[in-house]
Parts: sequence; C-alpha cells; structure tokens
Amino acid sequence: MLTALLFLLPALAAAAPARKQAIGANYFQTNGFAGNQLVANYIAADGTLVAGSAVWTGGNGSASINAPGPMVNHPDPLVSSNSVIVVNSQVLTVNGGSNTFSVFDIDAADPAKPALSAVYPTFGEFPNSLGASKDGKTVCVLNAGKVNGFACYAAGASGWEHLPGWDRTFGLNLPTPPINFFGTPSSITFAADGSALHVAVKGRPPTDPSNPTGQLEPGAVFSYAISGTGADATLAAQPTKTPAGIPFALVEDVSSPGAFVAPDPATGYAAFRFGANASAVTGTLAGQMATCWAAQSPLTRSVYLVDAGTNNVTEVAVDPATLMGTVRAHHHLGTNATITDVAIGHRGTYDLMYVLAPGYRAIRAFKISGPGKFKLIQRFEHGDLPKETVLSMGFNGQAVFWK
Ligand SMILES: *[C@@H]1O[C@H](CO)[C@@H](O)[C@H](O)[C@H]1NC(C)=O
Ligand SMILES: *[C@@H]1O[C@H](CO)[C@@H](O)[C@H](O)[C@H]1NC(C)=O
Ligand SMILES: *[C@@H]1O[C@H](CO)[C@@H](O)[C@H](O)[C@H]1NC(C)=O
Ligand SMILES: *[C@@H]1O[C@H](CO)[C@@H](O)[C@H](O)[C@H]1NC(C)=O
Repeated sequence: MLTALLFLLPALAAAAPARKQAIGANYFQTNGFAGNQLVANYIAADGTLVAGSAVWTGGNGSASINAPGPMVNHPDPLVSSNSVIVVNSQVLTVNGGSNTFSVFDIDAADPAKPALSAVYPTFGEFPNSLGASKDGKTVCVLNAGKVNGFACYAAGASGWEHLPGWDRTFGLNLPTPPINFFGTPSSITFAADGSALHVAVKGRPPTDPSNPTGQLEPGAVFSYAISGTGADATLAAQPTKTPAGIPFALVEDVSSPGAFVAPDPATGYAAFRFGANASAVTGTLAGQMATCWAAQSPLTRSVYLVDAGTNNVTEVAVDPATLMGTVRAHHHLGTNATITDVAIGHRGTYDLMYVLAPGYRAIRAFKISGPGKFKLIQRFEHGDLPKETVLSMGFNGQAVFWK
C-alpha cells in the first residue's frame, strides 16, 4: 500500500508544476470512430509539451476512404485543415462521423483541462473544418460529404446560436464519407477584415478514379461576400469562384491582409488576392509530394508548409505585393511521420510551432527564431500523451491557446 502510494506521488506532483508553469495549451482530436477525444497538452515556458488530458467530445470521428481500401482511420482522415480551432477561451472540434461539432471551455488557470460545454449539429454530412471571424463572434462549420456546404453560428448569451440565413449548400457530387480526397471542400476561412467567407475546394486530376470526365477538373476558392457588421451582417447567396488547383487551406497574411497562401499538393502552394483586384500566382516546391497544411509565423512573416509525403516542413517567404514566394529553409522529419496539421504562436522574440505527426501518433515542437531559422525542440511521442488517450492513426487538427 505504502509502496503503491510512493509510486503514485511523483505522478501527482508532476501535474501541478506543469499546470502552474504552463504558458498555454495545445489541442488536437483523435478522430476515433467509436468515440472522439480532444487531447489537450500544456505548453511549458520553454515551448515543450507536457501531458494534460484527453476528453470525450460526445461525437465520433470518420475518415475518407482510400479506395480501393476499406474505411479505416489514417493520417488526413478529414481531407481538410482546421478541424480543431481556438476561439477566444473555447476550443472547438468537428466530429466527422456524427455531423456535429463540440465546444469546450478553456480555464486559463488550467488550459489543458478543457470542459465540454455543448455539441451542435452541422446541418450537413462529414464536417471537416471550422472557421471563426476575427472578433470570435461568428463560427462556421464546413460539411464535405453527400450533404455539403456550411452552417454558421453566432456567439449568444448561453452558447452558440445557429444563423439559418447563413446556411449554404454547394451541390458537389460527393459520397459520405468521401472517396480519396479530390473534389472535396478543405477549409472555411473568414477574411480578417470581415468582408468575405472563403471556402477552399479541391480539384480532381484526370488520374482520380472517381473523376468520371478523365479531364482535369480545377479546384476553386468560393468567396461569399459579407455585408454589414455584427448582428446585422448578411452573407451573399452565391459565391464568386476563383480557379485554383487542390487548395487545402487559406492562410491570410497577418501583415498584409487580403493576401492569402494556400498549401496545394499539385505544386506546393499558390497565393491569392480576391475581390476587385483579384490575382493568383502558383508557387512550386521542387520535389514536393503532399503539401497540404500551412501556418504563418507573425515573427518572420514566412509561411511554413507541411508535406505529408516528403515529411518536410518548408519555410517560404511570400511577397504580399507580387504574391511571389522564395524558399528560405527546410526541415526533414522521420520517414514515417506523415506530418499534417500545424499551428504557430507568437511569443515576443520568437515563435513556437507545433506540427502533428499522425504516422507516429505524436507532435513535433519547433522554435522559430528568425527568417530561415527554425529548429526542432521536442519530439513529443505517443508515450508522452495523457494516459487516457485512445490512440488512433487518425489524429487530426492543431490549435493553440495562450494564457
Ligand atoms: C459513436 O459510435 C458508437 C459505437 O459505434 C455508437 O454506439 C454511438 O452511438 C456513436 N455516437 C454518436 C454520438 O454518434
Ligand atoms: C485596386 O488596385 C488599384 C491600383 O493599385 C487601387 O487604386 C485600388 O484601390 C484597388 N482596389 C481595391 C478594392 O483594393
Ligand atoms: C527536405 O528537407 C531536406 C533538409 O532537411 C532537404 O535537403 C531536401 O531537399 C528537402 N526536400 C524537399 C522535397 O523539399
Ligand atoms: C517505416 O514503416 C515501414 C512500414 O511499416 C517500415 O518497414 C520501415 O522500416 C519504417 N521506416 C523507418 C525509418 O522507421
């Protein structure tokens, strides 16, 4: 009995300093088919992760089918970016198999112990991405299955309130769950100035077995104009469509609003401006295979592109005036890491970057100290996760909260 207690004490003692010294928390979802979990870990003062908790979301995950294989969990199960987001002091995750999203409250004093607040319907099938307006007062959830489109919610006195006037359907010919990843919507993103809601939709190459035409079907960015502000804001009925390749996300430049970078496994990335002065430039990363995720560093203003095929993180500086990009640095992670979602946070003289490695059921932490300078500071392995985490090959999403 006493021996058992002595063994227990260090474990209990470890949690308290981690909580006290945490500067924030990191979140992702397990995407478990028979119960999804949100996994929360503390971010210590030096940027490394420390086990927090894994909490049930009240919903289930799902996965696109890698035909002709069966429906199994795999890295990139939701064929998307931003399946987990932080909005003010809440963290939200989609439940791809339940057509819901779950909202958790974050206690700043203990950010790696999020508490489930409510579960909301997405009014569609296979929800795979969330987007929030800059003021955090509106969130939209994207549906990428048979019933595809999006639904939006406004922050209310007692939770999120559905905005029926903002429901839109795309009418894309997709099954639930989708087969392969081509032709599916990838992400939903508010313009920082609140002028539009952008949805990235992937194209289909001629080689896609579920492309009946045998011709390249280009992807697009669907941009819905927003008029008015606050409770009076309305959304255009129809989008304007900007041709694109296979865009997985839209990352808006923090220093030059209106300039967006899209990771794109067709060539590496593309850069866009929408609206009156629309322009687009295709960027090429030599030797890339599956560049589908990206985040911007507020410190260096570079975009860090994540390639699940080569397992490289590539730093690219995109000139917001010309939309032309320049490669600044690469970092190669392990052969079987299958790196995907990425989140970056600004810490003053440096930034911290977290890259999900679902192949290892792990996270890699980096410190960004200047242009062309980012280095690995931690390999956070599956053995380091909260004990109650149910491991799956479908780990998905990356979001951070700072105290
Ligand atoms: C999740 O999956 C389990 C096991 O298949 C099932 O019993 C449960 O009803 C599902 N829950 C939701 C919310 O879909
Ligand atoms: C479009 O570009 C022109 C020329 O650079 C500029 O004068 C104008 O303000 C821009 N319009 C918008 C809507 O950004
Ligand atoms: C991957 O990164 C390594 C350096 O870590 C670099 O030598 C290699 O060229 C990169 N490959 C690609 C395809 O970016
Ligand atoms: C990667 O996984 C394959 C298949 O499981 C295995 O054969 C190979 O040894 C692994 N490579 C490394 C570097 O771990």
